[in-house]
Amino acid sequence: MAKGFYISKALAIVTVVLTFSAIAGIITMIIVYQTQTADLNMTPRPTIPVTTPFPPGPRPQMRLPGDLVPDHYELTIRPYLYPYIEKPTDENATSPDQNMTFTGNSTVYFHCVRRTKTVFLHNRGLTIGTVRLTDRDKNQRVPLNGTTQHRDESNFFEISVDEVLEVGGNYSLFTEFEGEMMDDLAGLYVSRYRDAAADGNSTERFVAATQMQPTDARKVFPCFDEPAMKATFDVKIIHRRGTEALANSQESDKSIVDEDWLVSTFHTTQKMSTYLLAFVVSEFQSTPSKHERVKILTYARPEAIAAGHADYAAEITGKILTFLEGHLEINFPQKKLDQVALPDFAAAAMENWGLVTYQESALLFENGVSSMLAKEWTATIIAHELAHQWFGNLVTMKWWNEIWLNEGFAAYMSTLAVDNIEPSWNIKDMLMMENLHSAFEWDALASSHPLSSPADAIQTPSEIIELFDPITYSKVKAEAWRRTHKWMYLKAFQYENTEQADLWKYLQKVNGKINVANVMDTWTNQIGYPVITINTTTGEAYQRHFQYNQSTVLVWHVPIKVMSETSGPTLFKEEFVSKGGEWILANVNAAGYYRVNYNPENWHSLLTALEEDPERIPIVNRGQLIDDAFNLARAKLVNVTLALNATRFLRNETELIPWESAVTNLRYIIAMFDRSEVFGPIQAYRRQLVTNLYCFFKNYTDNATVPEDHSQQHNQINAIRVACGSGLPECRLMATRFFRYWMQNGTNIIHPNVRSIIYCQAISAGGEEEWEFGWKMFQSSNITSDREQLRYALACTKKIWLLNRYLEYTLNPDKIRKMDAVSTINTIAGNVAGQALAWNFVRAHWTYISQEYGAGMMPLGSLIDGVTHRFSTDFELLERFQMDHDEEELGSANRAVEQAIERTAANIQWVKENKQPLLEWFQRESAVTKNTISYCSEAPAC
Ligand SMILES: *[C@@H]1O[C@H](CO)[C@@H](O)[C@H](O)[C@H]1NC(C)=O
Ligand SMILES: *[C@@H]1O[C@H](CO)[C@@H](O)[C@H](O)[C@H]1NC(C)=O
Ligand SMILES: *[C@@H]1O[C@H](CO)[C@@H](O)[C@H](O)[C@H]1NC(C)=O
Ligand SMILES: *[C@@H]1O[C@H](CO)[C@@H](O)[C@H](O)[C@H]1NC(C)=O
Ligand SMILES: *[C@@H]1O[C@H](CO)[C@@H](O)[C@H](O)[C@H]1NC(C)=O
Ligand SMILES: [Zn+2]
Repeated sequence: MAKGFYISKALAIVTVVLTFSAIAGIITMIIVYQTQTADLNMTPRPTIPVTTPFPPGPRPQMRLPGDLVPDHYELTIRPYLYPYIEKPTDENATSPDQNMTFTGNSTVYFHCVRRTKTVFLHNRGLTIGTVRLTDRDKNQRVPLNGTTQHRDESNFFEISVDEVLEVGGNYSLFTEFEGEMMDDLAGLYVSRYRDAAADGNSTERFVAATQMQPTDARKVFPCFDEPAMKATFDVKIIHRRGTEALANSQESDKSIVDEDWLVSTFHTTQKMSTYLLAFVVSEFQSTPSKHERVKILTYARPEAIAAGHADYAAEITGKILTFLEGHLEINFPQKKLDQVALPDFAAAAMENWGLVTYQESALLFENGVSSMLAKEWTATIIAHELAHQWFGNLVTMKWWNEIWLNEGFAAYMSTLAVDNIEPSWNIKDMLMMENLHSAFEWDALASSHPLSSPADAIQTPSEIIELFDPITYSKVKAEAWRRTHKWMYLKAFQYENTEQADLWKYLQKVNGKINVANVMDTWTNQIGYPVITINTTTGEAYQRHFQYNQSTVLVWHVPIKVMSETSGPTLFKEEFVSKGGEWILANVNAAGYYRVNYNPENWHSLLTALEEDPERIPIVNRGQLIDDAFNLARAKLVNVTLALNATRFLRNETELIPWESAVTNLRYIIAMFDRSEVFGPIQAYRRQLVTNLYCFFKNYTDNATVPEDHSQQHNQINAIRVACGSGLPECRLMATRFFRYWMQNGTNIIHPNVRSIIYCQAISAGGEEEWEFGWKMFQSSNITSDREQLRYALACTKKIWLLNRYLEYTLNPDKIRKMDAVSTINTIAGNVAGQALAWNFVRAHWTYISQEYGAGMMPLGSLIDGVTHRFSTDFELLERFQMDHDEEELGSANRAVEQAIERTAANIQWVKENKQPLLEWFQRESAVTKNTISYCSEAPAC
């Protein structure tokens, strides 16, 4: 599954593993990554007793005992859902009852590996009727001694048997069941949309869809619902005429049951985990993709298909699949691959084997309406989900604690795939940068969790010498490694489950000399990442754990890549000594997952070089230096003014990566001070920095066009965002003018790339009229990306009452879809005028929100994170919030609350210490420069 931050950290890890291991035959870098167990409702790792006494023995707590292993399921499901309700022509006739239930039956074939008298399966919320156990070896019924549904989080459905099930015995269990389909976006659920009938009358339409990951297959049928319990599945879906049923594999037969119902039978699936099962019953239509062997169809609302909104997805999906098959040298094992854009969907997308599901905004793309960012997002998400067909589906982690084995590789492969199909985007550098930044920030918190379960969390610092081993970069070697050893791991474990030790074993075969597991474990079993401090006068370098507010003794194996003013990238520790005051730069091209700090003299030389001779420093490092400086300042390892000095060179910078880095890092300072007197001087300084950049793109912006180059397009967005955001008059006028034109003439000429930022500016500068216009456009549009841009922009108003009303709308699914509620509230909280409102709103409605929106994959953690982001004074409120709601009620948000409390404490401290120096710095800096211009025409040379 793909979800913001989650991908980020995993991406950082695997990038590092693959590049470094491939590069010199040494695996050195791995980051720590939060498994986000809480978000995934994961149950804790069990302590499995060494010997399981029999009977009676200890009862399993949360995990299946493993006595019985499923081999195959036969599953029949019948959703009682009308695709739409016909309005009765006779006023007295009643419409049919849309009762939103489903019935089904299932036979699971399993074998016994440990004697037992109890069968444990998972079931949540299903009403189970007949239960029948058969001994397949003797071909006779096994008498049962009753069943028990556990009411705790184990969700066990326990069947006690009169006879002992013997090792090696083969059995089958038949169950009949009935369940409810809700709009909870979990298990088998209902999604709705309105069609746009030609006569202007639109009808509400219904879709039955599934989301099983991580533990909702048990809401659909009783099963062994753990990722290692892989089996094959024969699925039959009984559905109403006029609908089409999709499942993981290809349909083998469709036959008529009666005048209302059809039954679709599907081929046996691959051996797979229950969380990858999926079905969709809908009236959707599809667009085909080209692929030499696999039949690929992209499904969406008929209207969206007719308008061509699935064309881009269809065009690239075949290419991506072909690329992955070639790169991994294992063919996609099915005959078909379907993708479906669902109007309601909790995650961005889900990689169900052969039936990938998406939010509409992730899959649909309209030329001329969707922005280039949306296009990148679509390509990246599709590539991510397709990569999961190998990493995750074919080879699966043993248990959820190592889900990074799925997510990390998927994120890494998706970058390669997108780079391959859209080379002009240069997406690799940018994605790496973005992902590293967000991973870095999260990982620096003490409540951050290690990548893997913290078995031996802290290692003794005994091999420090090794930390600085020289490594040589060689592309040729990397390619050779890839060709000879690549993905033996995939082939060896296909259709099975792995843990990270398995991966290390395979990497070990390639890297004879180094103990791979030892090196890697410093990265996977520890929290956080290191900061390397280099003193260029003495040549000394040491590492410590990087954290914002404390430090612990942890040690990593770190490969360091260095360059100096006079050398190219080299890698020898002699280079740490600077001769004649020249600068030295470590972590060249920011390839490593660590931060670098220097002695003040070297910082000074580097910052001077940035201003006077920026070309000498690689673009990625121009961004990285800003990022390191800001974060070292947050950790109090350097002065905050040093970090600010590192942004001065932006006055003449037009490259994207340094700007991205500055925008991201200044965001923190702005969030801390946008309610204080520091804000005025901050804005003045930002206007100074951005004027040149804004004028650089002015001709494009004013003519509603964009530059050819992809990264320039990104930077044009930055230019407008920072310029308008800091109140550059020319930018504000431009935005208001474009929006007014739309309001008055009904024609929207704003370029899609900059729509959301221009809408936001215009709504922020405007009043009720602008807001109402935006809302009307939002409601009447059937185009997903249009709606997304407006939904975001509506949160930008400065009018408190409009913001409050908008907040109320988020809990009304007729106005804001459930899946969008959290991100809408977060966007409102991101507006300085909406921060306090959003926090009060969340507190006031917490119980309701966590009940209605807490099921399935709703990101309650990200809600807490979003609304408390700015906290730098209200620490006590947050702790009281935690006291008001116990752990159970906080549920998946519990860890987010802890992190928010920790972050708030750090913020309070930081603001106290830095307010005065920052105020002085910004005042001085914004006064110094004379050319404070308002319009590009006044600029010297643009
Ligand atoms: C509907 O029912 C009412 C009363 O039961 C009756 O008067 C009316 O004629 C009916 N209308 C139609 C169209 O059958
Ligand atoms: C739902 O409707 C079907 C027929 O359409 C019926 O057989 C079933 O009993 C109904 N279930 C409930 C819970 O009303
Ligand atoms: C399962 O349900 C389907 C549809 O109701 C039915 O045709 C089939 O016979 C049932 N299977 C068993 C084993 O009863
Ligand atoms: C059946 O269950 C009852 C209690 O539920 C228990 O006392 C009895 O021993 C069980 N019989 C067998 C054969 O396991
Ligand atoms: C909508 O449908 C109703 C009844 O079918 C019809 O009377 C009405 O004219 C339709 N509306 C439009 C705008 O066509
Ligand atoms: Zn994923």
